[in-house]
Amino acid sequence: MTGKVVMASLAALAALVSTVAAATTATVAYDGSVCASVPIHKILAAPGGVYRLRDGRELKAKVVTVGGCPASTSVQTGAAYPAADKQTNYTAFAYANRNTECLTGATRGGSAPPTYKAFQAVVIEANGFRFSTALVMEGIDAQAEGADPPHGRRETMTSLGMAGGAVVRPDVTTMPGALVSVEPFKVPKAALAEVGFPSAQDLTVDAAEYTSLTENKNCAFMDDEADQCKAFVSYTDPIDRLLIAYAGTQPSSDGTTDGVAFVSALTLGCGCQCAEKAGPTRTIVPLPGRTDRCRSVPNTQWSFVCDFRGALWCETALSTRWLLTEGGEGACVHIPSLIQRRVSPYAPAAAFG
Ligand SMILES: *[C@@H]1O[C@H](CO)[C@@H](O)[C@H](O)[C@H]1NC(C)=O
Repeated sequence: MTGKVVMASLAALAALVSTVAAATTATVAYDGSVCASVPIHKILAAPGGVYRLRDGRELKAKVVTVGGCPASTSVQTGAAYPAADKQTNYTAFAYANRNTECLTGATRGGSAPPTYKAFQAVVIEANGFRFSTALVMEGIDAQAEGADPPHGRRETMTSLGMAGGAVVRPDVTTMPGALVSVEPFKVPKAALAEVGFPSAQDLTVDAAEYTSLTENKNCAFMDDEADQCKAFVSYTDPIDRLLIAYAGTQPSSDGTTDGVAFVSALTLGCGCQCAEKAGPTRTIVPLPGRTDRCRSVPNTQWSFVCDFRGALWCETALSTRWLLTEGGEGACVHIPSLIQRRVSPYAPAAAFG
């Protein structure tokens, strides 16, 4: 599944949530929390350093220069992109290509994996909860002029998550026909320490790399409809810390052109503060091998409901509910329903900023 599909299904879920919530409030445990789309530059620019989602959850973010990879003087990592548009959903990533400080090396048949030892990064942290999320890394391109393929500046981006101190890897995909592909890169533990991802070992990660050997393309902002310079990142396993890293794989031919790429808003799943449903519950399940006959049985799984006093965070998920159309056992039908799925404790710290 591509990240695009994940984003689309979140949107479909949002649409379903509003329809179902409006039509059958009484039967669906959904409190109307929004599905959020959060531009990263807005988290970085939040007053007091803490960005509060409409549902009360808090995020903070910081820009990190790793391994002495110099920032660009023209475009700032973490700034709105384009800079003049404060409402833009996109956030810039940029490095100075003066020398070779920010280069990972390129993937070439049989060579050692390129290494993210010096790069520009943004790290986002959640205040006491985990979240599933999707984002798109865009403009991972090449120097278009003055360089013959496969020479000239080329770029790479990667993302890594953490949950309770353990590394979580996202799904990273590209579109058919893309000039960017997903390749294994190494991230040394020293670099991981600099971004607050403590690891006993160097890690191998899936990075998006401009790998075309026949074309050097500059994918300008909003001018990449075929998704040639994009990578779709999706975390279905919830995380509490998110790293996005950007570097070059090889230098520009004139040694001066800075690398610039940009990242979409983060899409966060719908959810609510929640608690275990109190007391014994019963559920309706189909008889073995049937879809038209059901019976009522004691519930063997925990179920969760939105509860503003709850100590958990849940995300809303699509499920199926069975309805008996007669008595305690008999004919039944199934309908789509929304359930709350526990993703993590919800224990925000009072002093988070
Ligand atoms: C940003 O994304 C949101 C959610 O997809 C959308 O509603 C909004 O129009 C976008 N904003 C801009 C400036 O494109």
